[in-house]
Order: sequence, then C-alpha cells, then structure tokens
Amino acid sequence: MFVAKPSTASSKREHYRELNQQLVGLFAEESDGLANAANLTALFFHALPDLNWLGFYLLRGAELCLGPFQGKVACVRIALGRGVCGTAALERKTIVVPDVHAFPGHIACDAASRSEIVIPLLRGDRLLGVLDADSPRESRFDADDAEGLETAARLLVAGSDFSRLVP
Ligand code: SME
Repeated sequence: MFVAKPSTASSKREHYRELNQQLVGLFAEESDGLANAANLTALFFHALPDLNWLGFYLLRGAELCLGPFQGKVACVRIALGRGVCGTAALERKTIVVPDVHAFPGHIACDAASRSEIVIPLLRGDRLLGVLDADSPRESRFDADDAEGLETAARLLVAGSDFSRLVP
C-alpha cells in the first residue's frame, strides 16, 4: 500500500528526490499508464508549492489531447508547434517560461497562470506527450524543477504501459 510521506527535505533538489522515490514505489506496484500518470499528477500537484495546474497532454496524431491533470478545467486540444506545450512537444525539449505573457503564442487556460514549465514525454525517440505545470507566481520554475520533473517523466515512461493511452 502507498502512503504519502511528509517531506523532510531541506532543499528543492532533495524534495524532488523524495517525490521521485515515491514514484518508484508507486510504479513498482502498477504499470497501467493512465493510473500512473494520474497518480503522478496528484502526488506532485499537492506536494509542490505555488502550482495552479499540473498535468499531461498526450499525443493524438498531429496534436496533443488533454490527459490526467489537477487544477481547473483546461483547453483540450493543442496542435504540435502551438503554445508552450506544442512547442516543447515539437522540439522535444523542456521549456521553462518565467513570464507567460512574454511567450508568443502562449495558450491561457487559467488566467491565474504567470509562469510555466513543459517537459516532453519520450520513449526513446518517440514522443508520447508532455507534462505541463503552471504557477500563479512569476519565475516559479528553475533548473532544479526541470531536472526533478524530467526525472519524474522518465520514471513514468519507464515504469508504465502507454500502449492504450498513446497507440
Ligand atoms: N499554457 C499552455 C496550455 C495548457 S495549460 O497551461 C493547462 C500552452 O501554452 O501550451
């Protein structure tokens, strides 16, 4: 049984290490991609400070489609190359946006969002989707967040079966 542990972390990097260790435990017990992606959003959204949205967009043909998330109702479909999510997906690289108002083409789902980070979800060369987190605080995300969330995305892909989620 999974029991969320209270954090004893003294730094952001240490906090991500703890959270990712909890993911390892979760994914050791279950390989269903939908269940694991959903639990990742719950774990991270409630553990990380200053977030108003955290979730997945999954690849559907030439666009991304909303997947498991925590936060307010969000836009459902995003074309590859559009917004922060579509750009990170197309370029297959993490994008950190300190001020969403300064990102050309940013798609505003929740007017409260001020900064954003998007991590591509990759299995080898294959794009499965993206992990997206939004914050109401400007410049909320830094290199430690990028590293911690990239590790989470890698653990999710390595520990889960996505064949029915992204056929
Ligand atoms: N802001 C994103 C859209 C998704 S929401 O933030 C949940 C973007 O520009 O791609």
